Amino acid sequence: MSGSNTEAFCSEVEQLLASLPKDGGLICQAAARQMLAEKLVRKQRNLQMPIGVWTVLALLTAGLLARAAYRSSSPTCLLSGTWLQEIARQPSNCSSMCAGLTSVPVETDISPERFLQLYAYTGRPLLVRNGTRGWRAHQHFSYEFIRDLHDRHPSAYGHGPNIKVIDPFNVELATLHDALHMSEERRRRPFYFGWKNLNRGVCLELMNYHERPYYLGPEIEHPAADWFYIGSASRAALLHIDFFYRPSWQAQIAGRKRWILQPPVECESVCSPLQVDIEPGDILNVDPNQWYHATYVLNETFSITLGSEFM
Ligand SMILES: *[C@@H]1O[C@H](CO)[C@@H](O)[C@H](O)[C@H]1NC(C)=O
Ligand SMILES: *[C@@H]1O[C@H](CO)[C@@H](O)[C@H](O)[C@H]1NC(C)=O
Ligand SMILES: *[C@@H]1O[C@H](CO)[C@@H](O)[C@H](O)[C@H]1NC(C)=O
Repeated sequence: MSGSNTEAFCSEVEQLLASLPKDGGLICQAAARQMLAEKLVRKQRNLQMPIGVWTVLALLTAGLLARAAYRSSSPTCLLSGTWLQEIARQPSNCSSMCAGLTSVPVETDISPERFLQLYAYTGRPLLVRNGTRGWRAHQHFSYEFIRDLHDRHPSAYGHGPNIKVIDPFNVELATLHDALHMSEERRRRPFYFGWKNLNRGVCLELMNYHERPYYLGPEIEHPAADWFYIGSASRAALLHIDFFYRPSWQAQIAGRKRWILQPPVECESVCSPLQVDIEPGDILNVDPNQWYHATYVLNETFSITLGSEFM
């Protein structure tokens, strides 16, 4: 960035920081900061885009040509509108992320040191069995519990960038309020949706039901911006890649879910697609900005997943 751009950028950071709420939990403020950081990272990327675009465009073209030449089945389906973002995506380090992996590594009792060394920022996925040990969420979470939690904090239903209802079935779930107030009859038919909570009241209450995963050491910054994904549908999220710029953990609170992970184009010659089923108590650590991912709720169970990002 040039000098004047940098100045404008920094003064915007200061203004936005000053506008953050001063009351409320520190962790919830961290959530707001995270939102800010994402906005700024995006902005910074836009400013730097020209070089990245050409490099990645070249890689992508090479990748697509190679794919066309050597493969005829199972094409990666980009959701419409994401191709531009895909072009701007930074290429992954295939050797640290997935070279040689034929299944998702599983650990039952991993130390923070080991997690940091092998998984936290390498892009390598990891399933931690019994990762949610001691979380009260397992005994309490249900559709009704989550609805009531939000009803106690009606501003959590507000529109804006904080709420993102993912509704692959494109049914009548126009808002989070609609999604959490479906009729009994509607809930017997398939549905699946997700959203990110940045409401301070909801955030503070949620802290009574889950903790930071035990294997995230003090080096790892962890804002409490929780994602919820709930639903009963067999096919949940379609194959897609995210653009949040940070890895995530996804804790299965109820129900069973299958994750399909597909390496990005630049890694396809050295990495395989992976598949893993997760059960209540499991935490899947995955960088959804590097792996294309799709999920399926298994056997029509009612699935509740709580997730967050870290940096
Ligand atoms: C990619 O990852 C490997 C293995 O972790 C590492 O040795 C290498 O330096 C990384 N390459 C880049 C360009 O970061
Ligand atoms: C999960 O971890 C807790 C605490 O270490 C332990 O008491 C419990 O037996 C474990 N459960 C399973 C299914 O491994
Ligand atoms: C889920 O359904 C499949 C196929 O119908 C069956 O083989 C499997 O045992 C079921 N699993 C559970 C946990 O119910």
